[in-house]
Amino acid sequence: MSHGFDYRRNTLHCEGVALSAIAEEYGTPTFVYSRAALEANYQRVDAAFAGVPHLICYSLKANGNLSVGRVLAAQGAGADVVSGGELFRARKMGIEGNKIVYASVGKMVHEIEQALADGILMFNVESRAELETIAEVAARRGQRAPIALRVNPNIDPKTHPYITTGMRKYKFGVPPEEAVELYRWTVRTPSLQPVGIQMHIGSQLVEVGPIVEAAGKMAEVLRATGIPLRYFDVGGGLGITYKDEKPEGPELLAKKLAPLVKSLDCILILEPGRFLVGNAGILLTKVIYIKTNPEKKFVIADAAMNDLIRPSLYDAYHPILPVVPAYGAETVDVVGPICESGDFLAHGRELPPLKAGDLLAVGNAGAYGFTMSSNYNARPRAAEVLVEGESFRVARRRENYLDLIRGEE
Ligand code: LLP
Repeated sequence: MSHGFDYRRNTLHCEGVALSAIAEEYGTPTFVYSRAALEANYQRVDAAFAGVPHLICYSLKANGNLSVGRVLAAQGAGADVVSGGELFRARKMGIEGNKIVYASVGKMVHEIEQALADGILMFNVESRAELETIAEVAARRGQRAPIALRVNPNIDPKTHPYITTGMRKYKFGVPPEEAVELYRWTVRTPSLQPVGIQMHIGSQLVEVGPIVEAAGKMAEVLRATGIPLRYFDVGGGLGITYKDEKPEGPELLAKKLAPLVKSLDCILILEPGRFLVGNAGILLTKVIYIKTNPEKKFVIADAAMNDLIRPSLYDAYHPILPVVPAYGAETVDVVGPICESGDFLAHGRELPPLKAGDLLAVGNAGAYGFTMSSNYNARPRAAEVLVEGESFRVARRRENYLDLIRGEE
């Protein structure tokens, strides 16, 4: 867990606030975020890259909450967006268009129009067809669209296959040779302006080696084009510690990338998501029932796979801590109320004996928690709370039943 969360007077706190106080005020399940942890994470990346001209474009898909985004925006963050909806959110966070980069293999015309109207820093383009569409839309609007090509370097980042992107078997980016060709076409097309080059090879990367290697390939493409591109965007992917991973971290990445970026005379863009918000949030949940059968003991919590899908989808490990610690340990499955065996937060976890009403904190839930949540089983989505020192406030109110049917006839 991040330094934003620790035990004080026998109760798990977020900064100066007892998690039990938050549960009392806003109920459960609730995502709780630490402002201090968000700021510390941002500052760690910023400090690591202090020796290189850089822009940190926070990847909104990790956590799109406006209050969370505003904390990062106040630190100077730009945004990495992947849809018109995320672009809308980024602008609501107060992030200017000229600090926003836009990736996605399926940008639609209305989204391209919106991005051009907002004057984004660059489109991270993922195919020839998309490049042609952007050229048409920009021409119609009498604009020049700022372009970076997303290079797929075909390098294995050694992470979960579902969050691997920079390999040829996946849908992202264009191969290096095609990128060179497309840059040539871009130069000849008046409604396009090549300004950068981009990659993103995968997420939750524990080693930085693959990013550095891929950046080397990207630099070759850049040199081959002969175009003075201003932005060298290496994407996101920095991993965090969920269990016993020892991620190499931004400092080593900076050390290894700095010489390359300086030799290219570019501005480095980073697109961290998980690293900024992952350990800054927990999912607070309450035990509803304890149930045993001849084989197992189940702790049934009020948070479920609709709130945090990572364990079900990626078999991901999230630490679970009792808000009030107790002696003893037993092995349990922590599950939610949803009608699927795939609905679990943890399998075979050692926890102290628990009873109905006890509070648990599911750690490292700040990234890809709320943003991947759903209304499955007609469960209103959880509340989100931001803690700032001794105070806390709702960052998103809990959904109610009317929210569930909004828009239905
Ligand atoms: N840039 C691009 C173009 C991306 O596709 C992503 C993540 C990022 C940046 C940010 O990556 P990060 O720094 O957060 O690793 N739902 C999965 C993660 C999916 C990541 C998708 N792309 C999970 O819960 O692990």
